Amino acid sequence: MLKLFVCQICGEPHLADEVPTDCQFCGAPKKYLKMAEDYSTLWGAELTEQEKTDMEATLVLEVNATAYYTDVAKANTKYEKYERLFKALARVEKEHAEVAAKFLGVDLPEFVGEKSRGDVKADLERTKELETGAMGRYKEFMANATSDKVKNLYDALIHAENGHKELAEAELS
Ligand SMILES: [Fe+2]
Ligand SMILES: [Fe+2]
Repeated sequence: MLKLFVCQICGEPHLADEVPTDCQFCGAPKKYLKMAEDYSTLWGAELTEQEKTDMEATLVLEVNATAYYTDVAKANTKYEKYERLFKALARVEKEHAEVAAKFLGVDLPEFVGEKSRGDVKADLERTKELETGAMGRYKEFMANATSDKVKNLYDALIHAENGHKELAEAELS
């Protein structure tokens, strides 16, 4: 029977028979998918100055990634594999941007960022670079964080970005 699960990281609901492997919205690992009754909001807590600075940097990274993947999707033929793949990546990054904005209590900024490199291989290389870079920053931000909620956010983001990096690597090989 279908059950209602809610992602502890992004707050999105899932209807599924069993706990999904990863959140289909933000890519958080299974351990963050809760039965709806057990869900509590991740954001809303006071951030330390360091957490705030890091969260602002997170929002910048996620907005750029969303804009970039959206542009790459548009640069590829509609309904073909790479258009779909980059559209899916853009959606996940947008979800990350939304969570960062909620932590900061700000409106989502406009999604402006870098543009497609002009060919799929170069875009996959750039994807690998962006995701590796984001992971490095998030490991740093996770170590800086004092709140468990902020630590959990970065733990989930690292898992999601690592999945994107591995996907780009597999496409390149
Ligand atoms: Fe999620
Ligand atoms: Fe992200």
